[in-house]
Amino acid sequence: MASPSLSALEERHLLEALRSGWISSQGPYLRRFEEEFGARCDVTDTVATSNGTVALHLVLAAAGIGPGDEVIIPALTYVATANAVAYCGARPVFVDVHPDTWCIDPEQVQASVGPRTRAVIAVDLYGHPADYPALREICSRHSLLLVADAAESFGAYLNGQPTGSLADASTFSFFGNKVITCGEGGCVTTSDRALADRMRLLRNQGMDPQRRYWFPVIGFNYRMTNLAAALLSAQLTRADDIIARREQVISTYERELADSPLQRQPIASAVQRAPWMASFLVAGDDTARDRLAEALGRLGVETRPFFVPVSALPAYGEDSSGQPVSTDLGRRGINLPTYADLTDTDLKVIVERVRAALDTLA
Ligand SMILES: Cc1ncc(COP(=O)(O)O)c(C=O)c1O
Repeated sequence: MASPSLSALEERHLLEALRSGWISSQGPYLRRFEEEFGARCDVTDTVATSNGTVALHLVLAAAGIGPGDEVIIPALTYVATANAVAYCGARPVFVDVHPDTWCIDPEQVQASVGPRTRAVIAVDLYGHPADYPALREICSRHSLLLVADAAESFGAYLNGQPTGSLADASTFSFFGNKVITCGEGGCVTTSDRALADRMRLLRNQGMDPQRRYWFPVIGFNYRMTNLAAALLSAQLTRADDIIARREQVISTYERELADSPLQRQPIASAVQRAPWMASFLVAGDDTARDRLAEALGRLGVETRPFFVPVSALPAYGEDSSGQPVSTDLGRRGINLPTYADLTDTDLKVIVERVRAALDTLA
């Protein structure tokens, strides 16, 4: 369903890091990764972390978000977006996504701003950047921090600007199924130097950078290892090729299934998506998506359903009735196998099996 694209270059970097003895959270690959990632995302600062969830928590903690505060987030996202808010003791306020982007709806954000609101986290769902121009306008009017959860959108552009540069701070995940990966890893990008310095302090247990074993604040161990950074810097070197192949994979599905009952992901005209997952909506009743997934499973094609809206989960109130678009997408969405190493023959076979499985739904 998803498999990392790893080459001789990753192997070489990893061996080099291993043999150098720099296997922990200091070393040349960490500096190199932070520099190169920041340059690619057009920001001044990149703060590498041990995964994408703690990257989100780090931004919110560095911004001082805490108990009594509210953070507006889309209902349709991976649970980590909400969990990061909860880790701060703050309350996630769920709003619906827009049917044309599947990302947080700026009008609903505006309607949900209240006296306790401190931040908005937009999520670039399935590789499509949210409507940052509209969100920026709302956030600056109400003095709110705008965070982009770009875990799924490395390589995307909005109006020619790369994800990573579209909000006050952006977070990435390098989990094994992401566009580029180091197994487990993440980072935050920002051009706010003070925020970056605060994140670096908190990432390293709160230790004063000028004084060893002096901890003026309570921090976390959210550091990335040099081994992970070694893998990532190889992935960054190969990123354009990986992205190009993933884009071919997704466009092939879209072209070959254009006349089927599957509806492709809508892409706004200002957007160049990140080819993270081939995402489709299944037409039909509420059971059609699950029946399709089961039929495909029987044919040996592994798929992924869309996320369940976080507001529908037991930990977050089990009520997504206020977010009908998220609820509908969560029921109807399916992701087809997407990774760079899929061959044209693999794709042909998968497309044939999708067609065969769709025939059984009628
Ligand atoms: C939207 C979103 N946010 C956050 C995360 C969390 O990242 P990680 O798994 O690296 O902690 C992920 C992916 O896993 C994600 O898809």
